[in-house]
Amino acid sequence: MHQKKMKIENLNLWYGDFQALYAVNLDIYENQVTALIGPSGCGKSTFLKTLNRMNDLVPTARIEGKVEFDGQNVYNPEVDVNELRKKIGMVFQHPNPFPKSIYDNIAYGPRTHGIKDTHQLDEIVERSLRQAAIWDEVKDHLDRNAQSISGGQQQRICIARALAVEPEILLMDEPTSALDPISTAKIEDLVNKLKENYTIVIVTHNMQQASRISDRTAFFLNGYLKESGETRKIFLNPEKEETENYISGRFG
Ligand SMILES: Nc1ncnc2c1ncn2[C@@H]1O[C@H](COP(=O)(O)OP(=O)(O)OP(=O)(O)O)[C@@H](O)[C@H]1O
Ligand SMILES: [Mg+2]
Repeated sequence: MHQKKMKIENLNLWYGDFQALYAVNLDIYENQVTALIGPSGCGKSTFLKTLNRMNDLVPTARIEGKVEFDGQNVYNPEVDVNELRKKIGMVFQHPNPFPKSIYDNIAYGPRTHGIKDTHQLDEIVERSLRQAAIWDEVKDHLDRNAQSISGGQQQRICIARALAVEPEILLMDEPTSALDPISTAKIEDLVNKLKENYTIVIVTHNMQQASRISDRTAFFLNGYLKESGETRKIFLNPEKEETENYISGRFG
């Protein structure tokens, strides 16, 4: 049995007076991949960003409800947001490496957390790049600008950068939507391996991808979490007609 890692309870979110999430309840299980699916604009990215308080950066965003991580509400005033985002890392739709060397991209997080020892940084960089399945491709030119490599490689650099600070949870917002099929397959393999050590929440528009890589799936529609549960169940035998219609491609 997998432990609950996060527990989202009655979560509502507004941007100004527009309500983007309605009373969302969801459990996220440790060492599992949870896929968030649903049509464009239904609130997937908004929901994902509530998990590590990335919506704090949107001045109009307002939240009610609870997002528990290891038993603590991440919205408690005493929570250190930097520490939270170290534990809950994020990878975005478009690879966004810093305009720095590959090495410095990976070492960035650990350095901001106070690690200065070169030997220790070398080890972290190698471990992270290996975990992101890109070490062999870049080990001989770690000084190359990370923005000068292919998009698929850049995305794996971004995953390595997120892993360098040893997070517990990795949030991925459509991490393969800008990538070719080979790079996509590499990231999917990677997600499958990473879940041994991490908990993963991934947004995807690709139903095959959701069914291939996730253990659990949550279906959003118009700001509501319509249905969630084991991926096999959601895809083979959904409870709701809207879920069935969406996964079979009848809308969205
Ligand atoms: N910063 C913002 N200010 C105001 N409204 C926003 C903001 N970000 C998102 N929204 C609105 O909130 C709703 C949910 O948006 P969100 O980006 O979460 O959808 P999504 O499911 O991720 O869509 P997509 O699949 O296109 O990425 C949309 O109506 C969107 O226009
Ligand atoms: Mg989105």
